[in-house]
Amino acid sequence: MWLPCGCTSKYVASSFARRILASHLHVSGRSRCNVAAFMPEAAGFEGVSGRAALRELSVSNSESFWAAVARHRLSWSIPFHTVQDCDLSRGKIKWFEGGKLNVSVNCLDRHVHTCPERVALIWERDERGSEMKYTYRELLEMTCRVGNLLRRHGVKRGDCVTIYMPTCPLAVASMLACARIGAAHNVVFAGFSADALAERIRDAQSSTVITVNQGVRGGKVIELKKTVDTAVESCPTVKQVFVAMRTDNPVTMTARDIAMEEEMLKEDVVCEPAVMNSEDVLFLLYTSGSTGKPKGLVHTQAGYLLYAALTHRYVFSYHDGDVFGCVADIGWITGHSYVVYGPLANGATTVLFESTPIYPDPGRYWDMVERLKINQFYGAPTAIRLLLKYGDQWVNKYDRSTLKTLGSVGEPINTEAWEWYHRVVGDGRCPVVDTWWQTETGGICIAPRPSDPDAEIVPGMAMRPFFGIKPVLIDTEGELLTSNNTSGALCMAQPWPGMARTIHNNHQRFIETYFQPYPGYFFTGDGAYRSEEGYYQITGRLDDVINVSGHRIGTAEIEDVVNQCPAVAESAVIGYTHSIKGQGVYAFVVLKKGIDVKEADLSRQLNGMVSEKIAKYASPDFIQFAQRLPKTRSGKIMRRVLRKVVESDLEGLGDLSTLDDPAEDDWSISDSLGQN
Ligand code: WT7
Repeated sequence: MWLPCGCTSKYVASSFARRILASHLHVSGRSRCNVAAFMPEAAGFEGVSGRAALRELSVSNSESFWAAVARHRLSWSIPFHTVQDCDLSRGKIKWFEGGKLNVSVNCLDRHVHTCPERVALIWERDERGSEMKYTYRELLEMTCRVGNLLRRHGVKRGDCVTIYMPTCPLAVASMLACARIGAAHNVVFAGFSADALAERIRDAQSSTVITVNQGVRGGKVIELKKTVDTAVESCPTVKQVFVAMRTDNPVTMTARDIAMEEEMLKEDVVCEPAVMNSEDVLFLLYTSGSTGKPKGLVHTQAGYLLYAALTHRYVFSYHDGDVFGCVADIGWITGHSYVVYGPLANGATTVLFESTPIYPDPGRYWDMVERLKINQFYGAPTAIRLLLKYGDQWVNKYDRSTLKTLGSVGEPINTEAWEWYHRVVGDGRCPVVDTWWQTETGGICIAPRPSDPDAEIVPGMAMRPFFGIKPVLIDTEGELLTSNNTSGALCMAQPWPGMARTIHNNHQRFIETYFQPYPGYFFTGDGAYRSEEGYYQITGRLDDVINVSGHRIGTAEIEDVVNQCPAVAESAVIGYTHSIKGQGVYAFVVLKKGIDVKEADLSRQLNGMVSEKIAKYASPDFIQFAQRLPKTRSGKIMRRVLRKVVESDLEGLGDLSTLDDPAEDDWSISDSLGQN
């Protein structure tokens, strides 16, 4: 199954793709200056000497900077006439207006033109040692077939297609096919439950879903098609479900189901790309906020792609010919930006990791590094913390000499994990880059070496803003903190091309969440410390969002589910420090009067409800039944007090995390690790 689509040499660049290619190939002959050797995009800035000056300029004269970079790094069919039109106080963000391009042409056709047989994807399948490679030509053909298939089934420009698939080539081709025909995609992480999937399909108003018969993860079969069947029962908008075959096991097909590979074979390998405006929607991606309802963040074409490509190139020191191994799932923004769009826009070989860090044993990542000759490895601290416990021998068994850069993302990386990653995995010779960003930012905003491959790195610090990023810290009174050695709310004072444009169908919520807390600034929701030297360190969320194994979840989302239980009067959920997951979920539950149930039974029931309605990783590690919750006079639950109670409780009890060995809880570990 899922072999590359045929080996025909029928690929002929379509007229639109040819036009874009012509414009792309015509960029040579610029005069070079000292910064140009480092950043060819900046070759136009003759007067700028040195990287520090270039970084200064990217902020002080961001329009010229982004215009130069956008012209150089992207292929346009029609050039933009306005670099930016942004007003942060109104949540208005527009970049490169007037410009027209196609994202799939930028990620595929232009590389097929210059190096068709270069490997685009290495699919590291769950079954160790069975990886499959797909060249740029093959990926373009697969994408075109899917694009034609979607078009033939009525998917039009502006429609939204929901993708519920594990990380695999056909999922990437499906994302790119949407981009090719001008549809938006809405990738839903395949660990989400039927209810969570249904909610996202309904909110996105998708009439088309793409899935697989079954997923395979950590040696276990996951019934994804069944989950889709349950989900679409409550989604009247869904007209068709494309079902690809990851395993050989047949599944029940209904009238709305379409056998994807079978139908793809009937399609042409050439698909005319839609000519898209810079600000047309590229995708929605749902993420958690501090209220119960997940928000569908909207990213658009040119700015997002440019930012993903530029950060991929400079944060990781990616060079032509490198094999880039980001182990995130495509269901998260990390997968979008650093498995798919950034690497492919740069013509890289990108790895699709389908398995878990401990399957079939804790050497899986490093065996993969050796086998695939990975040059940049990008993963989550939660996985590093887990692997560290298994010992150095799992790492030392394998040759890691190809590694050049190690990346970390999703949550703070504690010193012990940082040191181990650096000393053991990287043999003390690879820089570790701790990258801070969010679904909202589209790409990495703060990282140790964005502009200088030799810069100093302090363990556990994200450190320096990327080109064009202007972070500020603001105190609780709303005052800008100008000195160093200070902490505050982390905000951005300037727009950048990769930032989200709105929340799908709810621009008001977008404004209220990100632009009203500190007028004139984009508020990240995180707190940060700025050191004496001016380096940034992320201190954690300032809102009711917690981070479990690098997965972001709103405590209110979990409370909403717990409160649905008829025995429950009210609840409060908080995060607590967990030695592997970063944070664990702790729920306080108040029962209705007169309820007589065994607490253990009710706990099991509540855990089941959360797994079923959201996902396994959101399920509480501890449930504590209480008579009442501490509240303010106005009736707000005092979470701060609850956090104190839990902290002192846990201290008193020692390290409770040992009672909860994540390796025992299979889906939680496979679900939570290596994903984000
Ligand atoms: C939240 C965003 C960005 C891709 C993965 C998560 C936390 C992210 C770091 C880091 C400390 C981090 C923040 C942020 N976070 N990276 N390097 N150090 N915290 O994306 O699901 O949108 O979550 O993850 O709290 O706000 P996301």
